[in-house]
Amino acid sequence: MAHQVNGVVSESKGAPVQLVPILVPDPGPGEALIQVKACGVCHTDLHYREGAINDDFPFLLGHEASGTVDSVGEGVTNIAPGDFVIIAWRAPCGACRSCMRGAPWYCFSSRNACQPMTLVDGTPLSPALGIGAFAELTLVNAGQAVKVDPEASPAAAGLVGCGIMAGLGAAMNTGGVSRGDSVAVFGCGGVGNAAIAGAKLSGAHTIIGVDLDDRKLAWAKEFGATHTINASSIDPVEEIRNLTGGNGVDVSIEAVGNPITYKQAFYARDHAGTVVLVGVPSPDMKIELPLIDVFGRGGSLKSSWYGDCLPSRDFPMLIDLYMQGRLDLDRFVTETIKVDEVEKAFHKMEQGEVLRSVVIF
Ligand SMILES: NC(=O)c1ccc[n+]([C@@H]2O[C@H](COP(=O)([O-])OP(=O)(O)OC[C@H]3O[C@@H](n4cnc5c(N)ncnc54)[C@H](O)[C@@H]3O)[C@@H](O)[C@H]2O)c1
Ligand SMILES: [Zn+2]
Ligand SMILES: [Zn+2]
Repeated sequence: MAHQVNGVVSESKGAPVQLVPILVPDPGPGEALIQVKACGVCHTDLHYREGAINDDFPFLLGHEASGTVDSVGEGVTNIAPGDFVIIAWRAPCGACRSCMRGAPWYCFSSRNACQPMTLVDGTPLSPALGIGAFAELTLVNAGQAVKVDPEASPAAAGLVGCGIMAGLGAAMNTGGVSRGDSVAVFGCGGVGNAAIAGAKLSGAHTIIGVDLDDRKLAWAKEFGATHTINASSIDPVEEIRNLTGGNGVDVSIEAVGNPITYKQAFYARDHAGTVVLVGVPSPDMKIELPLIDVFGRGGSLKSSWYGDCLPSRDFPMLIDLYMQGRLDLDRFVTETIKVDEVEKAFHKMEQGEVLRSVVIF
């Protein structure tokens, strides 16, 4: 039986999103039906609606969610009805070449639900990042549902499902930030500020937040930035060198998804340091760098997919840190909104008014 609920759908490139009736099937083998409790509005949702990810419209948006397991299909053992879960967009398959060589955080064959969610006329929806959680119910692969402490606030927990994990993991997993390191983070939105929080948790000594918006920089300080730079009036590369004895930072994290900030991150890094690209560029973007600088500066240039996380390991750990008061997830929730306010939330995001708007069901 399919359940009819309202979902936030992006029908065509650039068009405002609409709240429309959708059909969500009961779970088949290996699947789970989730009653969504909260879902954050991430910049990647906006990338989808701008056609910057792919052209598989219509999209069912929303992918930063927590909820309660409603029912599970045949063969599901990791979760049961009533469990409080965070939905992950990575569910390692255990069988691809990356899983087989012991790196499931790169899984090349991550699992999703097999049955499609559809519009009422039967048109299949492409769920954002294989989730689609701006709806009261969503269907996922059971491996995407990670059980965490039910005492956690649903809004805060949902954010771990994407932006927080991506940012924290970019610093902690991909960047390998360690005690005494210096770190710069370009773009202090939800993802960048999570990278700042991750750098702080990892024991970084100097944490420099860079943004064009003073509101974002004030938040960056609250999450642990020791210094902030407004790049609209100050050259961030020069200023980062000034703040690091003329050397640049050990780990430079790009959390915008833009060639300009990528180049800044590249040149703001000390010799043999690490650049991490966690911001998602659009397909038309290009960078040009003198190859001699790529060689001569050494170190590593990395990309961070979902903070190189293993959801089953990292989600419960981050929720535990949150419950212990060591990771302030609530501070990322700027406002809670209703499901018909996602389009408005995109505009607030573009205006820099929010870190995260979170839909509550
Ligand atoms: N790699 C991943 O797994 C992953 C996961 C989630 C999100 N993302 C991506 O991370 C990026 C950030 O997401 P978000 O939700 O934090 O977005 P956001 O819009 O909340 O934040 C982006 C920030 O960048 C700032 N910015 C824009 N241009 C800048 C410039 N030239 N210099 C300095 N700062 C600048 C903005 O003012 C804003 O504060 C997006 O590209 C998103 O798609 C990646
Ligand atoms: Zn795999
Ligand atoms: Zn996201």
